[in-house]
Amino acid sequence: MERLLINNIGLLATPEGQSARCGEQQGKIKLLEKAWLLAEDGRVAAVGSGAAPQLDAQVLDAQGKLVTPGLVDAHTHLIFGGWRQHELALKLRGVSYLEILAQGGGILSTVRATRAATEQELSDKAAAALHEMLCFGVTTAEAKSGYGLNTEDELKALRVIRRLNSEQPVELAATFMGAHALPPEYKENREEYLRLLCEEMIPQVAREHLAEFCDVFCETGVFTAEESRRILEAGKRCGLIPKIHADEIDPIGGSQLTREVGAISAEHLIVCPPEGIAAMAEAGTVACCLPATSFYLGATFAPVRDMISAGVPVAMASDFNPGSCPSLNLQFVMNLGCLKYRMTPEEVLTAVTLNAAAAIRRADRIGSLEAGKQADLVIWDAPDLNYICYRMGSNLAHTVVKKGKVVV
Ligand code: NIG
Ligand code: FE
Repeated sequence: MERLLINNIGLLATPEGQSARCGEQQGKIKLLEKAWLLAEDGRVAAVGSGAAPQLDAQVLDAQGKLVTPGLVDAHTHLIFGGWRQHELALKLRGVSYLEILAQGGGILSTVRATRAATEQELSDKAAAALHEMLCFGVTTAEAKSGYGLNTEDELKALRVIRRLNSEQPVELAATFMGAHALPPEYKENREEYLRLLCEEMIPQVAREHLAEFCDVFCETGVFTAEESRRILEAGKRCGLIPKIHADEIDPIGGSQLTREVGAISAEHLIVCPPEGIAAMAEAGTVACCLPATSFYLGATFAPVRDMISAGVPVAMASDFNPGSCPSLNLQFVMNLGCLKYRMTPEEVLTAVTLNAAAAIRRADRIGSLEAGKQADLVIWDAPDLNYICYRMGSNLAHTVVKKGKVVV
């Protein structure tokens, strides 16, 4: 048996449970002072405070620091070719995100670069990003396709995700997002692309077990609520769990769709209306909010306090992508959770651990430090939770442990 004993923990902070926490429960976390944690064969065997057990184990001295569960980044567009730094000048001239997309730039310019890249090139690039994420304390991440927009290149992206899952420590949850934009070759024939998505791409992704989730960009000029419903229903018929990019720029009914299709999560929700909040509360959908994207787009911030009051479990993620959020720093997202969403540090911790795990159907296995869960954790250069939400711009992750092994 492989044992790792982490002793001399100044403060262990973790949400508890096997499912998303909502309402007041989102801010209730367990705090253990002068604590220890024992991992056995990659899982948490026991957590306690006071004298650590004396047994045969590799010992890691936490030097009185804060320990939390490993962070979970529940929304990334990890697989893409190129970058889009040229869009910065357009942005500064006042050209909007949707205008850039309508002119064939934005997502579509990344589609060209992604199609041109080999599987190896995409894999090397994503592996570098994953290493950076791991150094920031992220031990599990969701990864979407969505820059291929044809069968061959969407499958290429999903195969890269599958391969990376076994080649490096960050566990990946794959999402098929062929409905990220209408590819230019179908500009005059959107019905045909919808058919391709529903009748060819989704069934093939499912046959090859390349994704767990299906996501749609429900937005003005991208996919309507009705089209999004069709695509998500087609995904469900093949066993793919629905997720939806909703209310990022315009509220066109995406968040209301969560109840109808039973979405596990809704993403962005920057301009989510009260009806959307009510629908998510009823459906038990996790609101996956992406404050670094609001920051980067110069947009407003999602009404997270209203969501928490209405009993919607809130997760936060990076949205790492080459356009609306070229950052994978989940610690910055935590800062923004406090400063812009007015969440407490305790609510923030739940949002980037247990609730994020629930958004990718893994709350029974990760997202908290309790006996039986995976031993994924971060030792922080910080004495308490307030400190990591308050400091900004530095990487405070000191040591990262994945499945009971020190990986950073
Ligand atoms: O979540 N909104 C759609 N997709 C991404 C942006 C993708 C891009 O600009 O490349 C997002 O913001
Ligand atoms: Fe996104």
